Amino acid sequence: MPATIEYREQIARADQEMHGLLEGYEKMALTKRTRRPLQVDDYQWGKVNPDLVSPTVIRALEFVAKVERPPKSYAAPILKAADRDGVTSLRRFIVKTWLPEETQHGVLLRQAAIAYGAVSEEELDRDLARIDQLDFPIGRGYTAGKATTYGWIQELITHLFYIAMRNNTQDPVLREALADLAAQEMFHSWMYDQFRERVATPGDTVEATENFLMPGHITSPELQQQSTGWARKLGFNFRRMRQTLATGIVEQAGYQGLGQVATSGLIRNDVPPPLRVVLSIADRIHNPAINGQIGRIAARIAGVKLKTAA
Ligand SMILES: [Fe+2]
Ligand SMILES: [Fe+2]
Repeated sequence: MPATIEYREQIARADQEMHGLLEGYEKMALTKRTRRPLQVDDYQWGKVNPDLVSPTVIRALEFVAKVERPPKSYAAPILKAADRDGVTSLRRFIVKTWLPEETQHGVLLRQAAIAYGAVSEEELDRDLARIDQLDFPIGRGYTAGKATTYGWIQELITHLFYIAMRNNTQDPVLREALADLAAQEMFHSWMYDQFRERVATPGDTVEATENFLMPGHITSPELQQQSTGWARKLGFNFRRMRQTLATGIVEQAGYQGLGQVATSGLIRNDVPPPLRVVLSIADRIHNPAINGQIGRIAARIAGVKLKTAA
C-alpha cells in the first residue's frame, strides 16, 4: 500500500526530531563510557572466578554469545525498511551507534563464555562460524514502524535478561560486563521506542508484536528453548516486560490492539493459567468489541501505565 501524504509528512517530522535526538547522543559517546562500543580490554578477564557465578548464568553465556554474534544480519532488514520509508535517522542510528555497539556485544560475550568455561573456544568458534552463514528471515519486508517495534521489544527482553544474569552473579568482572551490556540494551530499547512512537501505525504495532520471535530461535534454537526456563530460574522480571509492552501497545494501538496481541502469545505466556485458556479460546476472534474487552482485561493484569490520559 503506498504511503499517504499525511503519513509521509509524519515520517518527515519524525525524522527531523530523531536526527536532533541522535545529535545529542552521539556527542555523549565522546565522554560517557557506556555510550560507546564496549571493549574486551575494559575487563579483567585474568581475574574471573566461575565459582562466584550461578551455573545457569554460565550456560546462558554460551547462548547469548551466539545470539549476539550476527548483528549485521539483524541490521539488514532494518536498514532496508529505513531506506524504503525514508527514515534517514533510523539508518544513522543503526550504522553509527547500534551496529558498532552490538558487534562488540558479540565479541565481549564470546570472551566471557570462554573465560567462564561455558564452552570450549574451538566448539564455540565452530558454532559461531555456522551462525555467520545463516540466512536470517526475521523482519524481512518490514516497514520502519514494524522494524522499530520489533527492536523495542527485543532490546527490552535482552536488557531484562542481562539484569537477571547479573543478579545471579557475584563475580565482579562478569557483574561489571553484564551491567554495561544491560545499560546499552536499555538505551537501544529506549531509542527504538522513540522511533516506534513516531513512525509506527497501530497496524505495525499489532503485527510486529503478534509475530514477534526472539532471534535465538534462528541462531541457536535448542538453547532458545531452554532460555525461558533459565529466565524463570534467574528471576527475569516478566512483570516489567508485560507492563512495558502492554502500555506501549495501548498507547499506540489502543485496547483493541492489545486484545489482538494478548491472544497471540507474547503476553499470554505469562498470564495466570485460567486466563490463558480464555485467551486461547478468543484467539481466532477478530471482533473489535471483543478484542477491546480482552485488551482492557489484559491491561489490568499487566498494570498498564499510560503517559497521557486516553
Ligand atoms: Fe546486544
Ligand atoms: Fe541491543
